[in-house]
Amino acid sequence: MSTKPNKPIMLFDCKTSQNVIGQDKFLKAFENILNHGAYCQGPETKELDEKLAAYSGTKYCSTCGSGTDALTLSLMAWDVKPGDAVFVSSFTFVASAEAPVLLGATPIFVDSDPDTYNMDPKDLQRAIDEVKKEGKLRLKAVIPVDIFGSPCEYDEIIKIAHDNGMKVLSDSCQSYGSVYKGKKAGSIADMTATSFYPTKPLGCYGDGGAVFSNTNEENELVKSCRVHGMSPEDHYDNVRLGMTGRMNSFQGAVLLQKLTVFDQELKNRYRVASRYDNELSSYYGKQKILDNCKSAYALYTIHCADRDELMAYLKENGIPCGAYYPRPVNTQTAYAKWNTRSLPVCEKLSKTVLSLPMTPYLDDEDLDYVINKMNEFAAKKMNKAA
Ligand SMILES: Cc1ncc(COP(=O)(O)O)c(C=O)c1O
Repeated sequence: MSTKPNKPIMLFDCKTSQNVIGQDKFLKAFENILNHGAYCQGPETKELDEKLAAYSGTKYCSTCGSGTDALTLSLMAWDVKPGDAVFVSSFTFVASAEAPVLLGATPIFVDSDPDTYNMDPKDLQRAIDEVKKEGKLRLKAVIPVDIFGSPCEYDEIIKIAHDNGMKVLSDSCQSYGSVYKGKKAGSIADMTATSFYPTKPLGCYGDGGAVFSNTNEENELVKSCRVHGMSPEDHYDNVRLGMTGRMNSFQGAVLLQKLTVFDQELKNRYRVASRYDNELSSYYGKQKILDNCKSAYALYTIHCADRDELMAYLKENGIPCGAYYPRPVNTQTAYAKWNTRSLPVCEKLSKTVLSLPMTPYLDDEDLDYVINKMNEFAAKKMNKAA
C-alpha cells in the first residue's frame, strides 16, 4: 500500500527545471537580449543551431518557430507540391499530416505496428504499391513519426522509401534525445523535424522547433524558406515562396540553458520508465521500444481494453493521464477526403492507449502511488476474469 503524495502528481512538468538550472540564469540571458536588441534569430539561436547539430551528430541544424514550421520548411526544401504523395503515420498529432496538406500534397495515411505504435513498414509498402497502381500521384516523401519519443523502424522505412525514389523526413517532434541503433534523433533520416513546445523532452518557454539536414543545399533552402524565400544575396529579392518561420532569441536562450541539464533529464526519464516497465502489472500492454534504441520518453504509454474505465479510475484517485490520440488523423473532419485506406491498428490504438505521468522530476513517492493504483485496477479486472 502507498498513500497519496501530499503534492500534485504531474503528467508533464515544464517548470521544475527552472529551479534546477536557476531562474537567475534565465533572467541574465533575457537581460542580455534586451540589451543587444536582436529579438529574432539573434546570437542565441545561432549558437543553438551549432549546439544542436553537435548534440545530434548532424551536419546542419536550423532552428525555427515550431515543430509544424520545421515539418513544413523541410517539405518546402524538397519542393513538395500538388500532385505529390506524402506517406505519413496516422497515429500522431495532426501536424505530421497538416504540413504536406498545407503545401497542396496528398497525404497517404499508413497504419501502425500494434506493439511499437509507430509506422508499420509492411503497410507503408502496401500503401506505396496502391498509389503506384493507381498512377495518379508522384511518390515524393515518407514521414514516420517517433510516437511518444520512441524511434521508428528506420532501417526498413528508409530502404523502402529510397527504393521507391522517396526521401524520409523524420517527425521527431516528440523524440529529440532518442537514440536509434547508436544514432541520435536528427541524424537518422534524410531530414528531421523537431519541436521544442514546452511539454516536449527538450522544451522551451513558448513555441520553437528545428530542422536537421545532411546537405548544405537543404539547409540553405530551409533558411531561405524560414524568411519568406529570401535570397541570401539580396534580402529584398524573394526567390521562392516561404513563410515566417523564425525562432525568437528568447526561446534560443531558454534552450541553451535547458540543454545543460538535458542529458540528466533524459536519465531521470529512463528511471521513471524502468520503474513502470518492471513494476506495472502484465495486465497492461506497454509500448515496445526497438532493440538497441532508446526512447526520449515524451510520454510513457500503455494499452488496455478498458482504457476509458482505467482513465476515470486514475483521475478519481488524483492521477493525471491522457489518451493520446483518441482519433487517428485520417478519421478527423478536415482530413476526411484523404481517409481512403483501412487502418485497423490505428483505430484500435486510439481506443486503448493511455499515457501515464512522465516527467524527469517524479519521485519514488509519486511512482509508488501511480504504480500501486494501476496495479490495483489490474488486479480487480484479473480477479473478475478468473
Ligand atoms: C508528432 C508531432 N508532430 C508535430 C508536432 C508539432 O509541433 P509544434 O506544436 O511545435 O508545432 C507535434 C507537437 O505536438 C507532435 O507531437
